Amino acid sequence: MDLTEPDIARIREQFDFDRSGRVVTNNAASTQPPRQLLDLYRSLTPFYENVHRGQSDASRYTTDRFESSYDTIAGWLGAPSRRSIATYRNTTEAINAVMYSLLTEFRDGDNVVTTMLEHNSNYVPWHGLCREILPRFGRRVELRIARFDHRTGELDLDHLASLVDARTKLVCCSGASNFLGSKPPLPIVRAIADAGGYPQPTGERRARLLVDGAQLVPSSFVDVQALDVDYLAFSFHKLLAPFGVGVLYAKEHLLEQSLPFLYGGDMIADGQVTPDAVGYNGLPWKYSAGTPNILGVIVSAQALRLAVDLVGGDPTRMHFRSEDPVPGPVVRRTMDRIGEHTAHLTRRAMDGLSGVPGLRMLGGPPGTPRSPLVAFTVAGWSPFELAAELNRHGVESRAGCHCATLAHHDLGLDPPASCRLSFYLYNSNADVDRAVDAVRKVVAHRPPAPTPVGGRHRREAA
Ligand SMILES: Cc1ncc(COP(=O)(O)O)c(C=O)c1O
Repeated sequence: MDLTEPDIARIREQFDFDRSGRVVTNNAASTQPPRQLLDLYRSLTPFYENVHRGQSDASRYTTDRFESSYDTIAGWLGAPSRRSIATYRNTTEAINAVMYSLLTEFRDGDNVVTTMLEHNSNYVPWHGLCREILPRFGRRVELRIARFDHRTGELDLDHLASLVDARTKLVCCSGASNFLGSKPPLPIVRAIADAGGYPQPTGERRARLLVDGAQLVPSSFVDVQALDVDYLAFSFHKLLAPFGVGVLYAKEHLLEQSLPFLYGGDMIADGQVTPDAVGYNGLPWKYSAGTPNILGVIVSAQALRLAVDLVGGDPTRMHFRSEDPVPGPVVRRTMDRIGEHTAHLTRRAMDGLSGVPGLRMLGGPPGTPRSPLVAFTVAGWSPFELAAELNRHGVESRAGCHCATLAHHDLGLDPPASCRLSFYLYNSNADVDRAVDAVRKVVAHRPPAPTPVGGRHRREAA
């Protein structure tokens, strides 16, 4: 059942932005944190202590909360246990962790296949590996890039299949594009990766599959075992939690067998450091070197539970602040509700924008499955000037390449930029209508300002 307007009104009461009148429509960059999560930080401070580093009640209390957060995250993703979960600062760091852990496994003549749809986080590390790092060790590993259909934004699966061969060690693919909105069909991508037949050190004969779930996990039900992904990365700051925590899911046997990405304290088995040998801690702590973002991880896992409560994913009970397992059907209902609501908002925005003169929406037509965002250009307008004008109307959009630089260049956008509106569970029809209205007014009534030479806009993350 879809979220109703009263549901949305009730949800918005939990967020500070609602009091400020902001039209928060840049959610693909980061979502807003509900007040309960910020209050949760505060309630943890009486027991503020490090984890795995003390015998006090406070340290044990915090350690228990921290460890059980891994169970919550694992359960949410359908992972078999916390042993498959590593936490990092964000998606980018999680993908880099895979890259550095696999660094020594590549053989001369191997290749990595990625796509033109990728965020730079899932392209630049592979570029760095193949073009900069491995050549310094005298190893040649090719980076191959699958195309997408310029009209629909869909990944060209035939082209992807043509790039995967017996030397493809890894396929790196976005689960949902942060620019064109397209969602590559992961079961087909999995089958293509399998068909390559690469002999992995584990004995398997197939390419591994890494999915960038940064835009997928916040608004879709994702079951890592059903999808049979080897690696999945996402960031909690796009899923209600404050900044600072990203997740890497990886199959347990891969984490067992890989080298760590970071070396140091807490990733070591008790007492097993001598001048000659170092023994690693058991999973998942082998991948948790140094003091982690303890409160951030606890609050992030609780953000998942709060999402259930906010959208009414479990009619039988509340889950926030508890540590009981969240049943799979509850996770599914929660994510379906979020997915349906944000898809509805996106369709509404696309319908509204379709009448704006000179406006070109990028990616598939309204009605095709897409991440809850729409990127567009308007003839005669710099996306940066457009975003600045929208901001004057109180509407928060994002102009730039959204770090999807490859795709912007591939589409021939000059400058390589677009303006993007993106939605989350707390957005209302009124938000969408205000945003669309603002675009209409700006385009109709305000001629674009001449673009000053240099320093036209603040630096945009790429
Ligand atoms: C598809 C995609 N991948 C990766 C990232 C990078 O996320 P983070 O900045 O949290 O590392 C983003 C963020 O916008 C994204 O949209």
